[in-house]
Amino acid sequence: MHSHGHRCHSLRKWADLLVVRKWRKTVICLLSVAVLLSVVQFGLWSLKPASTPPLTAQHDKIMEEKAEELSCGGEAKLLRDPAPLWKQMETDDKLMEKAHHWRWIRQRLTQAWASWKTAAKWLQKAHPYRMTNRTMQQVLIVPGVMLATDFAKADSVTGGGPLGDLVQWADLIAGLYMLGHNVTIMKDIYQVARGLRYSRFMWSPRKGCPLKDFDIIFADIIAMKTFPNDIVDAYSCKFRVLDAYGTQVMFNHPIYALEHNYQSSYGHLGLNLQQFYTFYPHTQDNTFLGFAVELPKLVSKTVEKKERIGLLYGKDPSYFKKHKLYIHQLMEWMEVHVTVANITTLPAGIINHGILSTDDYRKLLSRAKFFIGMGLPLESTGVIEAIAHGCIFLNPKFKGPQQDILQQLGKPTLRKMTSQVPYVERFMGPPHVYTVDIDDTQAVAATLKTASNTFTNRFVRFEFSTEGFLERLNSLVDRQHFCEKEEDAADHKQEKKGRHNILHTWLRLSAMKVFLGSENTSCSDTCTANGLMCEPSFFHQFNKRSVFKRQNIDCVDQQKEADIYFPAVSRKDSICTLQKESALFSCAGAHPSWQRLCACRTFVPEQVALCHRCY
Ligand SMILES: *[C@@H]1O[C@H](CO)[C@@H](O)[C@H](O)[C@H]1NC(C)=O
Ligand SMILES: *[C@@H]1O[C@H](CO)[C@@H](O)[C@H](O)[C@H]1NC(C)=O
Ligand SMILES: *[C@@H]1O[C@H](CO)[C@@H](O)[C@H](O)[C@H]1NC(C)=O
Ligand SMILES: *[C@@H]1O[C@H](CO)[C@@H](O)[C@H](O)[C@H]1NC(C)=O
Repeated sequence: MHSHGHRCHSLRKWADLLVVRKWRKTVICLLSVAVLLSVVQFGLWSLKPASTPPLTAQHDKIMEEKAEELSCGGEAKLLRDPAPLWKQMETDDKLMEKAHHWRWIRQRLTQAWASWKTAAKWLQKAHPYRMTNRTMQQVLIVPGVMLATDFAKADSVTGGGPLGDLVQWADLIAGLYMLGHNVTIMKDIYQVARGLRYSRFMWSPRKGCPLKDFDIIFADIIAMKTFPNDIVDAYSCKFRVLDAYGTQVMFNHPIYALEHNYQSSYGHLGLNLQQFYTFYPHTQDNTFLGFAVELPKLVSKTVEKKERIGLLYGKDPSYFKKHKLYIHQLMEWMEVHVTVANITTLPAGIINHGILSTDDYRKLLSRAKFFIGMGLPLESTGVIEAIAHGCIFLNPKFKGPQQDILQQLGKPTLRKMTSQVPYVERFMGPPHVYTVDIDDTQAVAATLKTASNTFTNRFVRFEFSTEGFLERLNSLVDRQHFCEKEEDAADHKQEKKGRHNILHTWLRLSAMKVFLGSENTSCSDTCTANGLMCEPSFFHQFNKRSVFKRQNIDCVDQQKEADIYFPAVSRKDSICTLQKESALFSCAGAHPSWQRLCACRTFVPEQVALCHRCY
């Protein structure tokens, strides 16, 4: 790991930065490329027993660097006693009102610890090559959502508040710890800011080695917005930002957002888009982190019998109020259950369990045949858990302006939501998922008729299993670096202002597949249409004049422009345009006059964040 990337400012330069800078006033360009690692995925998907060594020419150099880091950083060792981790989650009295979060996380992880151990053993066996000689990373955990706001007050956690964020933080902490990294949990965001500013976090992992601080800082939007600008600038390449729905370039790039009026109080951070970690894989501009769901054990030897029960998804009665007709229609087919604190606003005949403990909630999921979406919450963790318990998920289809719900909620993205959980619509479908317009009584009736006669097993897609999560997290921590070394950056010198973090790519160039998209089509869509994934990390490799020729495009004229659609070709006048500012490259942009050139990669089935034999 390039722990002392000079992009991140060496200590000396760093001192200069202590003066608070007004970020927006500084020239900013930022970002660019990114990457998602890649991985040779033999263990699971072919009969070959183990992953093979990387084959690139860079290999020797990389191994040399690795050996150097290892000798000072120490080796990350799998499988550890969780006691020190539990100790870090203990909270003193002063922070009592927040202690319940940590108790909740600890409880979730204690229950699941056996499966984390199993997953670590699996990883070691499936990828022995990748599991040796890993440097122990110094990781700082700053979950702003639990520290700086009262979003998840005690009564909302025990009373059914949004738990998705806690689930992801819990799994991230468990995964990093299980992989052998040095995890430091900070419970006071102001203490973090002071500590970073005055270099209070400096230690020497071994005698005779230079002092160092954190290699990676996991935060979220709330923490990022709470940190002073000088801290964000100084550490910008070390941040990973947990951001459930993700963000797109037009909101992230501060100047572009200002000039084109893309407003969101969550935007303008100007990090590399791959530094944002999401719940689900949707835009490949961001990194998919996800969370881990255990396949529940069968209580008895025989397959559990499902009852004609439909459990409404969500704990907020306001979700259900708008859909009384739909609920009445459901009642003709099944017993409708809910788990909400207050049922006074719900139609009669619904069976309310109140807020259940995790155990009792899971028991209810095991009995229920249907898990029923009401449009909200969007893309949270509950759906994957319900499907794991063998429920059929009825996923509301979104239409028209409803597809812009993320923008209506002020999220920094233009992504359209085709349903409540587009991931399960795209990657799963029947028999586990039926996506239906819930206002269309005929369509609902037809769906219920089909689904009622369908039998499903308990099911977790690999990327949401504990094994899949750990495999992905290991690749991310090991391969995804934004603190680039000076010499590697020589050819992008002019872009080195602001928070411009370049992602160091390990992908083989042979993994890059370039396509010319249709007009008005984003690279995400172009790659998807070709059975591939858009890969932003190839940007520097293909944003070159030669790319047009290789695609047999005759350019009447060539130019460079800074906007989110380039590189691209205009069919009307055959003008070829390269991207002038790598920070504006995006998988998402689409424009009626431009046919975009897109770099795509393969992906591993059920592990879309990783690609097949890419390095
Ligand atoms: C791990 O590092 C040691 C020392 O640098 C080296 O001898 C060994 O071959 C490495 N193992 C692998 C699998 O790369
Ligand atoms: C782990 O991190 C802490 C800072 O929270 C540091 O004091 C300690 O020395 C680190 N341990 C190792 C082995 O690097
Ligand atoms: C339940 O909701 C109703 C209507 O919003 C409200 O008047 C009532 O006080 C609530 N009851 C409880 C126990 O929260
Ligand atoms: C471009 O695509 C958008 C979204 O798919 C669509 O609404 C728009 O009409 C299209 N424009 C043209 C000129 O095809």
